Amino acid sequence: MAKRNIVITGGAGFIGSHLVRLFVNKYPEYNIINLDKLTYAGNLANLKDVEAKPNYKFVKMDICDFEAFYDLMQREKIDGIIHLAAESHVDRSIKDPFTFARTNVMGTLSLLQAAKLYWESLPEGYEGKRFYHISTDEVYGSLAFNDELFTEQTPYNPHSPYSAAKASSDHFVRAYHDTYGMPTIVTNCSNNYGPYQFPEKLIPLFINNIRHRKPLPVYGKGENVRDWLYVEDHARAIDLIFHEGKVAETYNIGGFNEWKNIDLIKVMIKTVDRILGNPEGCSLDLITYVTDRLGHDARYAIDSTKLQKELGWEPSLQFEEGIEKTVRWYLDNQEWMDNVTSGDYQRYYDDMYKGR
Ligand code: NAD
Ligand code: DAU
Repeated sequence: MAKRNIVITGGAGFIGSHLVRLFVNKYPEYNIINLDKLTYAGNLANLKDVEAKPNYKFVKMDICDFEAFYDLMQREKIDGIIHLAAESHVDRSIKDPFTFARTNVMGTLSLLQAAKLYWESLPEGYEGKRFYHISTDEVYGSLAFNDELFTEQTPYNPHSPYSAAKASSDHFVRAYHDTYGMPTIVTNCSNNYGPYQFPEKLIPLFINNIRHRKPLPVYGKGENVRDWLYVEDHARAIDLIFHEGKVAETYNIGGFNEWKNIDLIKVMIKTVDRILGNPEGCSLDLITYVTDRLGHDARYAIDSTKLQKELGWEPSLQFEEGIEKTVRWYLDNQEWMDNVTSGDYQRYYDDMYKGR
């Protein structure tokens, strides 16, 4: 494999840190640059085990800083971009949509334009280059509770400010292919879970609350359905698609693993209580039904047949195994949890659930 200079944006976040770790360990001949602004969601402690590797470099940068990114492209002779940096939490987007439009839309556009100018200035142009944009199944909207799944042909129909901003960024990426011929790829993945996820998201939040016997705020009736994929399986899919995916294509990523929220919550309760040696069922009384999320999408479910058939990817972990690993990781890494939940986040959390 030829030497490559790759920027991974958002590499200090949840999925990004798993992807950076995979690439740094698997491709010692590549230069891997983790570009991250380090918002509340970015945490370099997620990457302690790879930070000293010679093929790894961290650059603190805002993806909206066009000049700085253009300079970086030239200096590091970047030929691959895997773009994960984003504001990622739906509840925050409902409170503060502007930040989501700025980072997810303008930030993506800024990266695209800088990449275009740099790559078009080279004698070989776009040859051997790749702009790979990581997106979400939420752009497809919401499904009824039947057998229907999101496919790559499902029309976009985003509902939250988060998914509207992600949809817009997806359209910009495709427009740069269709207009300028940039070699782009977009993938849309289902809900990820696993270690290093910021504990504003359902799974780490609830594991931590069960441990500390705090209320578990279930939105609405807990009947919404999400489709869960272990984060390392997403990272493996990104690796495969980055190297073998077809330019201008879209691939859905998901493990055909749908769960109604309330059923998943009961699995978490059972697992945490078992591991901590608590009597079975003793944490069920923590379940607290609260006011529903505004515009709460009923059901997401991804059809990843194309990825499985064309590129031979399949998830490696059964859900039972994945959730056991995940629960054990959060219970074993209380210091990580305490660090990320102190200060500003604690204030956000208290505010978020006040009056619900
Ligand atoms: P995350 O919130 O854990 O991490 C986001 C990272 O982006 C953080 O490190 C943050 O510091 C960085 N960032 C935010 N704004 C930035 C800016 N302006 N400039 C530079 N860096 C900035 O998110 P995640 O859950 O790891 O999601 C990563 C990507 O995958 C996102 O694009 C998200 O839309 C997508 N995605 C997430 C899921 C999921 O279940 N978490 C599923 C499908 C797709
Ligand atoms: O589907 C992919 C998306 O999954 C990603 O694009 C997003 O970045 C990611 O945050 C995630 O979005 P969700 O909104 O589905 O994830 P979240 O963990 O916030 O919520 C999962 C479900 O649990 C959802 O139906 C809302 C519900 N929920 C969530 C929280 C935080 C609760 O009932 N209570 C809670 O406290």
